[in-house]
Amino acid sequence: MATILGSICSTHLPAIGGAIAKGLQQEPYWKPFFDAYPPVRDWLSRIKPDVAVVFSNDHGLNFFLNNMPTFAVGAAAEYRNEDEGWGIPPLGVFPGDQELSWHIINHLVDSEFDIATCQEMLVDHAFSLPMKLLWDGKDGNWPVRAVPININTVQIPMPSARRCYALGKAVGAAIESYPKDIKVVVLGTGGLSHQLDGQRAGFINKKFDQLCLDSLVADPESLTRYSTRELIELAGTQGVEILNWITARAALPGNVRELHRNYHIPISNTAAGLQLLENEPKVRELQRRVG
Ligand code: DHB
Ligand code: FE
Repeated sequence: MATILGSICSTHLPAIGGAIAKGLQQEPYWKPFFDAYPPVRDWLSRIKPDVAVVFSNDHGLNFFLNNMPTFAVGAAAEYRNEDEGWGIPPLGVFPGDQELSWHIINHLVDSEFDIATCQEMLVDHAFSLPMKLLWDGKDGNWPVRAVPININTVQIPMPSARRCYALGKAVGAAIESYPKDIKVVVLGTGGLSHQLDGQRAGFINKKFDQLCLDSLVADPESLTRYSTRELIELAGTQGVEILNWITARAALPGNVRELHRNYHIPISNTAAGLQLLENEPKVRELQRRVG
């Protein structure tokens, strides 16, 4: 059976791609951001997942405002990243896992989630940059296959935190019922608090971000008490991307242990966050098996 070994949630802002392309990782502005990732990469190189199920939001590369599914699950053999106009180099092609995609899709539809299924799907910075930060993927060599799951956090009406939480739980149950013996990590991208436009442009809410990071460890369901409107008010119009983190966390079963956390203000217009939660009993079992 497939096992979910942990969740990793990360900010996804496009400027990261520029900093990597220009080799700015050790510059004082960027160092506190990039220094957070090696411990998570070390964990990944220890557990060696086969698949990453990635919850994120598209920003207009694949879905535009005229065609906006609430939830969309990738079912493609591969996913291409293209130029979005941010001036960052596209990261090429990411391998998919169609068999797992269809298993998740069937499970979700059976569980009464009316999702869109995408046999073709471009992936934007919300997918490509966290993947790059976690695995590098030099020369297109990605050691994991991906199943991207897109959540509309860009255009009202958006799904509620409660609905996202239920989606995450259903995706988690789908993965755990997958008959192949594969190791899976779930990713949630975006956030933390930020607002790119309007009168509150530049808005950051450290107190709310800290509350979210704490709640995601111990009591993720408590975050479902917020309406989307409240989340926008508390986290900013784009900080509502926290929905991707809530969904990823809901997919993680069992007793979780926080192995790593970073919070740094600001990178670009955003409160940058990174959090690794391990499914401790499953990782221990895996370690026992491989010695
Ligand atoms: C920024 C943050 C985002 O989440 C995004 O999608 C684009 C830009 C930013 O802070 O610059
Ligand atoms: Fe974003």
